[in-house]
Amino acid sequence: MNIVNATKTNISLAAKIIKSGGLVAFPTETVYGLGADGLNPIAVAKIFEVKKRPQFNPLILHISDLKMLYKITNYNSKLIDRLIKEFWPGPLTLVLPKKDIVPNIVTAGNPTVAIRMPDHKVALELIKKSGVPIAAPSANVFSKLSPTTAQHVENQLGEKVNLILDGGKCRVGVESTIIKIDNKGVELLRPGGIPIEEIEIYTGKLKRRTTSNKPAAPGQLPYHYAPSIPIAFLSRNSIFKNKKKKVGAIFFSEKKINYEFASVKILSEKKDLREAAANLFQYLHELENQKLDIILVEKVQEKGLGLAIMDRLKKAIRKYK
Ligand code: TXA
Ligand code: MG
Repeated sequence: MNIVNATKTNISLAAKIIKSGGLVAFPTETVYGLGADGLNPIAVAKIFEVKKRPQFNPLILHISDLKMLYKITNYNSKLIDRLIKEFWPGPLTLVLPKKDIVPNIVTAGNPTVAIRMPDHKVALELIKKSGVPIAAPSANVFSKLSPTTAQHVENQLGEKVNLILDGGKCRVGVESTIIKIDNKGVELLRPGGIPIEEIEIYTGKLKRRTTSNKPAAPGQLPYHYAPSIPIAFLSRNSIFKNKKKKVGAIFFSEKKINYEFASVKILSEKKDLREAAANLFQYLHELENQKLDIILVEKVQEKGLGLAIMDRLKKAIRKYK
Protein backbone atom coordinates (compact mmCIF):
# COMPACT_ATOMS: atom_id res chain seq x y z
CA MET A 1 0.00 0.00 0.00
CA ASN A 2 1.51 3.34 -0.91
CA ILE A 3 -1.46 5.61 -0.32
CA VAL A 4 -0.71 8.56 1.94
CA ASN A 5 -2.84 11.48 3.06
CA ALA A 6 -2.23 14.64 1.09
CA THR A 7 -0.66 16.55 3.97
CA LYS A 8 1.84 19.37 3.40
CA THR A 9 4.74 17.05 4.24
CA ASN A 10 3.52 14.32 1.92
CA ILE A 11 2.95 16.78 -0.91
CA SER A 12 6.56 17.93 -0.47
CA LEU A 13 7.69 14.32 -0.60
CA ALA A 14 5.61 13.79 -3.74
CA ALA A 15 7.18 16.87 -5.34
CA LYS A 16 10.63 15.42 -4.65
CA ILE A 17 9.62 12.19 -6.34
CA ILE A 18 8.36 14.12 -9.39
CA LYS A 19 11.59 16.14 -9.57
CA SER A 20 13.69 13.00 -9.43
CA GLY A 21 11.80 11.39 -12.31
CA GLY A 22 9.31 9.22 -10.39
CA LEU A 23 5.56 8.72 -10.65
CA VAL A 24 2.97 10.16 -8.29
CA ALA A 25 -0.78 9.64 -8.46
CA PHE A 26 -2.63 12.73 -7.26
CA PRO A 27 -6.18 14.00 -6.97
CA THR A 28 -7.69 16.60 -9.26
CA GLU A 29 -11.26 17.86 -9.35
CA THR A 30 -12.00 15.53 -12.31
CA VAL A 31 -10.24 12.20 -11.74
CA TYR A 32 -6.95 11.05 -10.20
CA GLY A 33 -3.94 11.71 -12.41
CA LEU A 34 -0.79 9.63 -12.87
CA GLY A 35 1.84 12.35 -12.79
CA ALA A 36 5.44 12.75 -13.91
CA ASP A 37 7.74 15.68 -14.66
CA GLY A 38 6.29 16.87 -17.97
CA LEU A 39 9.62 18.18 -19.20
CA ASN A 40 11.51 14.94 -18.51
CA PRO A 41 10.96 12.47 -21.38
CA ILE A 42 12.20 9.45 -19.42
CA ALA A 43 9.82 10.16 -16.56
CA VAL A 44 6.97 10.61 -19.04
CA ALA A 45 7.84 7.30 -20.71
CA LYS A 46 7.20 5.59 -17.37
CA ILE A 47 3.61 6.78 -17.53
CA PHE A 48 3.01 4.96 -20.80
CA GLU A 49 4.70 1.87 -19.45
CA VAL A 50 2.68 1.73 -16.24
CA LYS A 51 -0.61 2.55 -17.95
CA LYS A 52 0.13 0.15 -20.82
CA ARG A 53 -0.98 3.03 -22.98
CA PRO A 54 -0.24 3.07 -26.71
CA GLN A 55 2.54 5.52 -27.30
CA PHE A 56 0.51 7.55 -29.80
CA ASN A 57 -1.79 8.95 -27.16
CA PRO A 58 -0.62 12.44 -26.11
CA LEU A 59 -0.80 13.66 -22.51
CA ILE A 60 -2.11 16.76 -20.74
CA LEU A 61 0.36 19.07 -19.00
CA HIS A 62 -0.97 20.37 -15.68
CA ILE A 63 0.15 23.82 -14.58
CA SER A 64 -0.29 25.87 -11.42
CA ASP A 65 0.13 29.39 -12.78
CA LEU A 66 0.31 31.38 -15.98
CA LYS A 67 4.09 31.74 -15.86
CA MET A 68 4.26 28.01 -16.41
CA LEU A 69 1.78 28.33 -19.28
CA TYR A 70 3.97 30.77 -21.18
CA LYS A 71 6.97 28.48 -20.72
CA ILE A 72 5.32 25.71 -22.71
CA THR A 73 3.15 27.47 -25.28
CA ASN A 74 2.95 30.68 -27.21
CA TYR A 75 -0.27 31.91 -28.69
CA ASN A 76 -1.70 35.22 -29.57
CA SER A 77 -5.42 35.08 -29.04
CA LYS A 78 -7.79 37.14 -26.97
CA LEU A 79 -10.28 34.29 -27.09
CA ILE A 80 -7.83 31.95 -25.39
CA ASP A 81 -7.06 34.56 -22.75
CA ARG A 82 -10.77 34.92 -22.14
CA LEU A 83 -11.36 31.17 -21.81
CA ILE A 84 -8.48 30.93 -19.35
CA LYS A 85 -9.91 33.76 -17.32
CA GLU A 86 -13.36 32.18 -17.23
CA PHE A 87 -12.53 28.52 -16.72
CA TRP A 88 -9.13 28.14 -15.03
CA PRO A 89 -8.48 26.67 -12.63
CA GLY A 90 -11.03 24.09 -13.78
CA PRO A 91 -11.85 21.09 -15.98
CA LEU A 92 -11.11 22.71 -19.34
CA THR A 93 -8.10 21.50 -21.33
CA LEU A 94 -6.80 23.69 -24.14
CA VAL A 95 -4.81 22.27 -27.04
CA LEU A 96 -2.33 24.99 -27.99
CA PRO A 97 0.89 25.34 -30.04
CA LYS A 98 3.81 23.77 -28.18
CA LYS A 99 7.21 25.31 -27.51
CA ASP A 100 10.40 23.28 -28.06
CA ILE A 101 10.88 22.73 -24.34
CA VAL A 102 7.93 20.28 -24.36
CA PRO A 103 9.24 16.78 -25.16
CA ASN A 104 7.70 15.03 -28.16
CA ILE A 105 6.75 12.05 -26.06
CA VAL A 106 4.27 14.29 -24.22
CA THR A 107 2.53 15.37 -27.41
CA ALA A 108 3.04 12.14 -29.36
CA GLY A 109 4.87 14.16 -31.97
CA ASN A 110 2.07 16.72 -32.37
CA PRO A 111 3.04 20.38 -32.76
CA THR A 112 0.38 21.12 -30.16
CA VAL A 113 0.23 20.46 -26.42
CA ALA A 114 -2.82 19.92 -24.20
CA ILE A 115 -2.77 22.08 -21.05
CA ARG A 116 -4.96 22.60 -18.04
CA MET A 117 -4.86 24.18 -14.59
CA PRO A 118 -6.68 21.83 -12.22
CA ASP A 119 -9.08 23.23 -9.64
CA HIS A 120 -7.77 21.23 -6.71
CA LYS A 121 -5.61 22.48 -3.84
CA VAL A 122 -3.50 19.32 -3.64
CA ALA A 123 -2.82 19.23 -7.38
CA LEU A 124 -1.91 22.92 -7.51
CA GLU A 125 0.36 22.63 -4.47
CA LEU A 126 2.09 19.59 -5.93
CA ILE A 127 2.74 21.30 -9.27
CA LYS A 128 3.96 24.45 -7.56
CA LYS A 129 6.35 22.58 -5.30
CA SER A 130 7.62 20.47 -8.20
CA GLY A 131 8.29 23.64 -10.19
CA VAL A 132 7.47 21.92 -13.49
CA PRO A 133 4.31 21.21 -15.46
CA ILE A 134 3.11 17.73 -14.53
CA ALA A 135 2.16 15.38 -17.35
CA ALA A 136 -0.75 13.28 -16.20
CA PRO A 137 -3.29 11.01 -17.81
CA SER A 138 -6.00 9.51 -15.68
CA ALA A 139 -4.37 7.07 -13.24
CA ASN A 140 -5.92 3.91 -14.63
CA VAL A 141 -4.70 1.11 -16.85
CA PHE A 142 -5.36 2.00 -20.51
CA SER A 143 -9.02 1.54 -21.51
CA LYS A 144 -10.09 0.64 -17.95
CA LEU A 145 -12.28 2.77 -15.70
CA SER A 146 -10.94 6.14 -14.60
CA PRO A 147 -10.19 6.46 -10.86
CA THR A 148 -12.10 8.90 -8.69
CA THR A 149 -10.61 7.79 -5.35
CA ALA A 150 -7.09 6.92 -4.18
CA GLN A 151 -8.25 3.35 -3.62
CA HIS A 152 -9.24 2.99 -7.29
CA VAL A 153 -5.67 3.94 -8.22
CA GLU A 154 -4.23 1.47 -5.73
CA ASN A 155 -6.42 -1.32 -7.14
CA GLN A 156 -5.26 -0.81 -10.72
CA LEU A 157 -1.69 0.44 -10.39
CA GLY A 158 -0.62 -0.36 -6.81
CA GLU A 159 3.13 -0.59 -6.37
CA LYS A 160 3.82 0.58 -9.91
CA VAL A 161 3.54 4.19 -8.74
CA ASN A 162 5.95 5.60 -6.19
CA LEU A 163 3.26 7.36 -4.18
CA ILE A 164 -0.51 7.87 -4.21
CA LEU A 165 -1.66 11.13 -2.63
CA ASP A 166 -5.10 10.69 -1.12
CA GLY A 167 -7.22 13.82 -1.41
CA GLY A 168 -10.61 12.14 -1.10
CA LYS A 169 -13.22 11.66 -3.78
CA CYS A 170 -13.00 13.74 -6.97
CA ARG A 171 -15.65 16.44 -7.08
CA VAL A 172 -16.39 16.43 -10.82
CA GLY A 173 -15.84 12.74 -11.50
CA VAL A 174 -15.39 12.86 -15.28
CA GLU A 175 -12.33 14.06 -17.17
CA SER A 176 -11.88 17.59 -18.44
CA THR A 177 -13.50 18.98 -21.57
CA ILE A 178 -10.86 19.28 -24.30
CA ILE A 179 -10.97 21.91 -27.02
CA LYS A 180 -8.51 22.76 -29.74
CA ILE A 181 -8.14 26.33 -30.87
CA ASP A 182 -6.27 27.34 -33.99
CA ASN A 183 -6.79 29.56 -36.99
CA LYS A 184 -9.31 27.08 -38.35
CA GLY A 185 -11.58 27.68 -35.38
CA VAL A 186 -12.49 25.98 -32.11
CA GLU A 187 -13.07 22.26 -32.04
CA LEU A 188 -14.41 19.99 -29.32
CA LEU A 189 -12.08 16.98 -28.92
CA ARG A 190 -13.69 15.48 -25.84
CA PRO A 191 -16.78 16.44 -23.86
CA GLY A 192 -16.08 16.57 -20.13
CA GLY A 193 -16.34 18.44 -16.85
CA ILE A 194 -17.31 21.82 -18.29
CA PRO A 195 -20.55 21.69 -20.25
CA ILE A 196 -19.97 22.76 -23.87
CA GLU A 197 -22.91 25.15 -23.65
CA GLU A 198 -20.87 27.19 -21.15
CA ILE A 199 -17.87 27.30 -23.47
CA GLU A 200 -19.97 28.17 -26.51
CA ILE A 201 -21.00 31.42 -24.82
CA TYR A 202 -17.46 32.61 -25.63
CA THR A 203 -16.52 30.58 -28.69
CA GLY A 204 -19.76 30.26 -30.60
CA LYS A 205 -20.79 26.81 -31.85
CA LEU A 206 -17.94 24.31 -31.40
CA LYS A 207 -16.91 22.11 -34.30
CA ARG A 208 -17.32 18.43 -33.47
CA ARG A 209 -15.34 15.52 -34.72
CA THR A 210 -17.03 12.16 -34.85
CA THR A 211 -15.56 9.04 -33.31
CA SER A 212 -13.42 6.94 -35.59
CA ASN A 213 -11.01 4.05 -35.34
CA LYS A 214 -8.14 6.23 -36.50
CA PRO A 215 -8.60 9.24 -34.30
CA ALA A 216 -6.71 12.47 -34.50
CA ALA A 217 -7.00 12.56 -30.71
CA PRO A 218 -7.06 9.14 -29.11
CA GLY A 219 -9.64 10.35 -26.61
CA GLN A 220 -11.76 9.64 -29.62
CA LEU A 221 -10.95 5.95 -29.75
CA PRO A 222 -14.30 4.18 -30.06
CA TYR A 223 -13.89 2.62 -26.65
CA HIS A 224 -11.72 3.89 -23.91
CA TYR A 225 -13.51 3.88 -20.60
CA ALA A 226 -14.77 0.39 -20.00
CA PRO A 227 -15.53 -1.74 -16.97
CA SER A 228 -14.18 -5.30 -17.08
CA ILE A 229 -17.67 -6.81 -17.33
CA PRO A 230 -20.12 -6.25 -20.21
CA ILE A 231 -22.17 -3.09 -20.17
CA ALA A 232 -25.16 -2.02 -22.27
CA PHE A 233 -27.91 0.57 -22.24
CA LEU A 234 -30.89 -0.27 -20.13
CA SER A 235 -34.17 -0.97 -21.92
CA ARG A 236 -36.98 -3.49 -21.61
CA ASN A 237 -35.36 -5.33 -24.45
CA SER A 238 -31.88 -5.48 -22.89
CA ILE A 239 -33.38 -6.66 -19.60
CA PHE A 240 -35.31 -9.38 -21.44
CA LYS A 241 -32.21 -10.52 -23.31
CA ASN A 242 -30.30 -10.87 -20.03
CA LYS A 243 -33.06 -12.27 -17.86
CA LYS A 244 -31.11 -15.41 -16.97
CA LYS A 245 -28.07 -13.38 -15.93
CA LYS A 246 -26.98 -11.44 -12.87
CA VAL A 247 -27.76 -7.90 -13.88
CA GLY A 248 -26.63 -4.69 -12.20
CA ALA A 249 -28.58 -1.55 -13.11
CA ILE A 250 -27.69 2.11 -13.04
CA PHE A 251 -30.61 4.52 -13.22
CA PHE A 252 -30.42 8.26 -13.57
CA SER A 253 -32.72 9.44 -10.78
CA GLU A 254 -34.96 6.56 -9.73
CA LYS A 255 -35.55 2.85 -10.31
CA LYS A 256 -38.07 3.10 -13.08
CA ILE A 257 -38.46 -0.55 -13.98
CA ASN A 258 -40.00 -3.12 -11.71
CA TYR A 259 -37.49 -5.94 -12.00
CA GLU A 260 -35.29 -7.88 -9.57
CA PHE A 261 -31.84 -6.58 -10.43
CA ALA A 262 -28.89 -8.06 -8.55
CA SER A 263 -27.82 -4.53 -7.71
CA VAL A 264 -29.20 -1.05 -8.35
CA LYS A 265 -27.46 2.34 -8.33
CA ILE A 266 -29.04 5.77 -8.67
CA LEU A 267 -26.79 8.44 -10.19
CA SER A 268 -28.65 11.42 -8.81
CA GLU A 269 -31.96 11.43 -6.97
CA LYS A 270 -32.03 15.19 -7.47
CA LYS A 271 -31.80 14.69 -11.25
CA ASP A 272 -28.61 16.71 -11.23
CA LEU A 273 -26.32 15.83 -14.14
CA ARG A 274 -23.30 17.18 -12.24
CA GLU A 275 -23.94 14.84 -9.34
CA ALA A 276 -24.57 12.01 -11.81
CA ALA A 277 -21.20 12.60 -13.48
CA ALA A 278 -19.47 12.68 -10.11
CA ASN A 279 -20.95 9.27 -9.22
CA LEU A 280 -20.63 7.51 -12.57
CA PHE A 281 -17.16 5.97 -12.37
CA GLN A 282 -17.57 5.26 -8.66
CA TYR A 283 -20.70 3.17 -9.32
CA LEU A 284 -19.14 1.40 -12.28
CA HIS A 285 -16.20 0.47 -10.05
CA GLU A 286 -18.55 -0.81 -7.35
CA LEU A 287 -20.63 -2.89 -9.77
CA GLU A 288 -17.50 -4.21 -11.45
CA ASN A 289 -16.55 -5.75 -8.09
CA GLN A 290 -19.89 -7.48 -7.52
CA LYS A 291 -19.46 -10.52 -9.77
CA LEU A 292 -22.29 -9.49 -12.07
CA ASP A 293 -22.72 -10.76 -15.62
CA ILE A 294 -23.69 -7.43 -17.09
CA ILE A 295 -24.33 -3.79 -16.17
CA LEU A 296 -27.31 -2.03 -17.75
CA VAL A 297 -27.28 1.76 -17.63
CA GLU A 298 -30.15 4.12 -18.29
CA LYS A 299 -29.46 6.77 -20.93
CA VAL A 300 -29.31 10.37 -19.77
CA GLN A 301 -30.12 13.55 -21.66
CA GLU A 302 -27.19 14.69 -23.79
CA LYS A 303 -27.02 18.21 -22.48
CA GLY A 304 -24.78 19.85 -19.90
CA LEU A 305 -22.66 17.16 -18.24
CA GLY A 306 -24.99 14.57 -19.76
CA LEU A 307 -22.95 14.82 -22.96
CA ALA A 308 -19.78 13.69 -21.14
CA ILE A 309 -21.67 10.93 -19.32
CA MET A 310 -23.14 9.56 -22.55
CA ASP A 311 -19.78 9.85 -24.32
CA ARG A 312 -18.11 7.65 -21.66
CA LEU A 313 -20.99 5.17 -21.67
CA LYS A 314 -21.15 4.84 -25.45
CA LYS A 315 -17.42 4.17 -25.58
CA ALA A 316 -17.63 1.54 -22.87
CA ILE A 317 -20.65 -0.12 -24.47
CA ARG A 318 -19.09 -0.23 -27.93
CA LYS A 319 -16.39 -2.50 -26.52
CA TYR A 320 -18.97 -5.20 -25.80
CA LYS A 321 -21.09 -4.90 -28.94
O1 TXA B 1 -9.50 15.60 -16.35
C1 TXA B 1 -8.56 15.24 -17.04
O2 TXA B 1 -8.33 15.72 -18.17
C2 TXA B 1 -7.64 14.15 -16.48
C3 TXA B 1 -6.98 14.69 -15.21
C4 TXA B 1 -5.95 13.75 -14.65
O3 TXA B 1 -6.45 15.96 -15.47
N1 TXA B 1 -6.68 13.72 -17.42
C5 TXA B 1 -7.00 12.98 -18.51
O4 TXA B 1 -5.92 12.64 -19.31
O5 TXA B 1 -8.13 12.64 -18.78
P1 TXA B 1 -5.97 11.54 -20.40
O6 TXA B 1 -4.55 11.34 -20.81
O7 TXA B 1 -6.70 10.35 -19.94
O8 TXA B 1 -6.71 12.22 -21.61
C6 TXA B 1 -6.05 13.22 -22.34
C7 TXA B 1 -6.66 13.39 -23.69
C8 TXA B 1 -6.36 12.22 -24.57
O9 TXA B 1 -7.56 11.71 -25.12
C9 TXA B 1 -5.50 12.83 -25.66
O10 TXA B 1 -5.74 12.24 -26.88
C10 TXA B 1 -5.88 14.29 -25.65
O11 TXA B 1 -6.11 14.55 -24.30
N2 TXA B 1 -4.76 15.11 -26.07
C11 TXA B 1 -3.64 15.36 -25.40
N3 TXA B 1 -2.80 16.12 -26.12
C12 TXA B 1 -3.40 16.38 -27.28
C13 TXA B 1 -3.04 17.11 -28.45
N4 TXA B 1 -1.87 17.73 -28.57
N5 TXA B 1 -3.92 17.15 -29.47
C14 TXA B 1 -5.11 16.52 -29.35
N6 TXA B 1 -5.51 15.81 -28.27
C15 TXA B 1 -4.67 15.73 -27.26
MG1 MG C 1 -7.95 8.56 -19.46
